[in-house]
Amino acid sequence: MILNGPNLNNLGKREPEIYGKDTLSDIIEYTKEETKSLGVEIEAYQSNHEGEIIDLLYRARDEKFDGVVINAAAYSHYSIAIRDAIASVEIPCVEVHLSNIHARDEFRHKSVISAVCVGMISGFGKLVYP
Ligand code: DQA
Repeated sequence: MILNGPNLNNLGKREPEIYGKDTLSDIIEYTKEETKSLGVEIEAYQSNHEGEIIDLLYRARDEKFDGVVINAAAYSHYSIAIRDAIASVEIPCVEVHLSNIHARDEFRHKSVISAVCVGMISGFGKLVYP
């Protein structure tokens, strides 16, 4: 499962100098294309709502997804609720960010979800997804 958080529905128009010109659909399409040879099935979701992201994490658990790639966007920096959900689903989650969060505003340097994810990839644009 690929899970995208708030404002990522606006990719393409949103600060393209930071996030690039691709829309979220372009990125999902690219990711499916890049992972074709692996034979993985991808379901991608985006939500601007914290609770919905949490519900999707439980859905990934209940429907036995092998893993989750999550860009929790701004929620990464402060959502203890999403962190707790990731910790409790017990399926591997990989945190991704299009931009290098450590090279930006200080409030973006900290991610509260990193410690409960398998790892984190940040700063390589759409390449972080596949
Ligand atoms: C982001 C980085 C976050 O700091 C920001 O709030 C986002 C996008 C990224 O993909 O670079 O919305 O997660």
